[in-house]
Amino acid sequence: MYDKLEQLNKIRQVIKTGGGRKRIDKQYEAGKMTARERITTLLDPGSFRETDVFASSEGFGLNNIKNPGEGVVTGYGWIDGRKVYVYAQDFTVSGGSLGRVHAAKICKIIDMAMKTGAPVIGLNDSGGARIQEGVDALDGYGEIFFRNTMASGVIPQISVILGPCAGGAVYSPALTDFIFMVSGISQMFITGPQVIKAVTGEQVSMETLGGAATHNRVSGVAHFISGNEADCLRTIRVLLSYLPANNMEEAPVFASEDPLTGREELISVMPDDPNKGYDIREIIRGVVDCSQFLEIQPYYAQNGVVGFARFDGRSAGIVANQPCVMAGSLDINVSDKIARFVRFCDAFSIPIVTFMDVPGFLPGVDQEYGGIIRHGAKIIYAYSEATVPKITIIVRKAYGGAYIAMCCSSLRADAVYAWPSAEIAVMGPEGAVNILSHKEISMAEDPVAMRKKLVAHYQDQFSNPYVASSKGFVTDVIDPRDTRATIIDALNNFSTKQETRPRKKHGNIPC
Ligand code: HXC
Repeated sequence: MYDKLEQLNKIRQVIKTGGGRKRIDKQYEAGKMTARERITTLLDPGSFRETDVFASSEGFGLNNIKNPGEGVVTGYGWIDGRKVYVYAQDFTVSGGSLGRVHAAKICKIIDMAMKTGAPVIGLNDSGGARIQEGVDALDGYGEIFFRNTMASGVIPQISVILGPCAGGAVYSPALTDFIFMVSGISQMFITGPQVIKAVTGEQVSMETLGGAATHNRVSGVAHFISGNEADCLRTIRVLLSYLPANNMEEAPVFASEDPLTGREELISVMPDDPNKGYDIREIIRGVVDCSQFLEIQPYYAQNGVVGFARFDGRSAGIVANQPCVMAGSLDINVSDKIARFVRFCDAFSIPIVTFMDVPGFLPGVDQEYGGIIRHGAKIIYAYSEATVPKITIIVRKAYGGAYIAMCCSSLRADAVYAWPSAEIAVMGPEGAVNILSHKEISMAEDPVAMRKKLVAHYQDQFSNPYVASSKGFVTDVIDPRDTRATIIDALNNFSTKQETRPRKKHGNIPC
């Protein structure tokens, strides 16, 4: 038996070495970890259990192991004591290219994750479809895409891009919930610089075309950017701490040492001038547990803010307009960002707390041509569809269609609270007075004084929280310092909420 054990250990060692020393060194020179190092860094120490170690597409030769592990390391382990499934493409083995067996290993991981109800984390570092395997490789991708789609809304799926990810291969990450990228080493694109140059004549580098900054700032494809792999893997652990393992469970609850009382500084975050911006994240940090807020897509569509936080130890999704960027108006990009986040929260039973300060949808020819109508509709659809507890805080502007879209009572917000500074109206006072009273103003002896008077009258009559409150559209007008206690109370009140929607095969969200 001892000689057999020795043989087993030897084979394991060969497989663990992947593509060999030279290729591992090349990986290090590129500033990258190996697939196994990535897994070890990601998971709780010693918790990784590898699956399909001996998988091979060419039969298993004891003394001639070709393509160790088929270019992907798969298995499961723990993050903060909770099980996750993981696969890491091994670039040192045929460039991490995906063939039939490589794909089958990944599919098995997703299937097990679905069966047992645990998140899947895919660490991507691959030259794409294994050229020698032709249509088998394409079929492998198709099998993964199908599973990503089936798993959507059932288990959290996280994609980490730690090398090239090109061609159709990008669609697996795109079908998952969150994409992480690392500056300098991650690239995603459908067609690379050479093809683009041949087809359109445009000249662009790999990094500018599909690097971490591009996808985090410009395209909105990615959700997180890190300076190095270790930071990236740490952030994944933080993200998972806010999420349930699957759609039948609740997110973990943490003991909160933060008192319910709000913070005095909330009073002074907002400038007196209603047309001045401020950073809504100061309000968010002022009301969540220990000021901890994990922002998602912080560099994309910055006129809106989404992310996770906790209230009294329980996870919540936060959605907010950002008044210091484009006055917090809703445009195409932020509509996509908000709608997708709301749908994620709803799928995984995470309550949604919305902070509203929105002057409207962004006017502009490019917005109309780009389809702000269908993109904006996504927010309305996502909030209407969501049956998780929905708490809305109107801190200042709540104008027109954007008031509706940002989860007002008619989209079935469970509770809507307004600060005394709230202005809930069809439009702002200046615009309304221009439309309703332009004749009166132009004929007045002192048009400036007349405009001022009419604006004050409009504010008194329409643009405050009390009109909406008197009609039952606002639950209560609250002291900003009580916001934290009010949200926690509302979340407790609606924690047992049960709401159903009509039975259907599926809806048809505008896209
Ligand atoms: C087989 C591949 C491979 C591939 C790389 N290798 N890509 N083997 N199929 N797709 C191998 C190389 O032969 C090499 O083997 C090793 O991996 C490392 O590759 P290098 O080129 O030496 O590395 P580097 O210089 O870092 O360049 C990395 C790269 C380049 C930019 C990814 O390898 C490349 O352009 N590969 C092809 C990318 C591509 O066009 N893939 C198809 C995309 S379309 P040795 O033995 O020398 O170490 C696609 C369709 C998916 O994927 C469709 C889904 C529906």
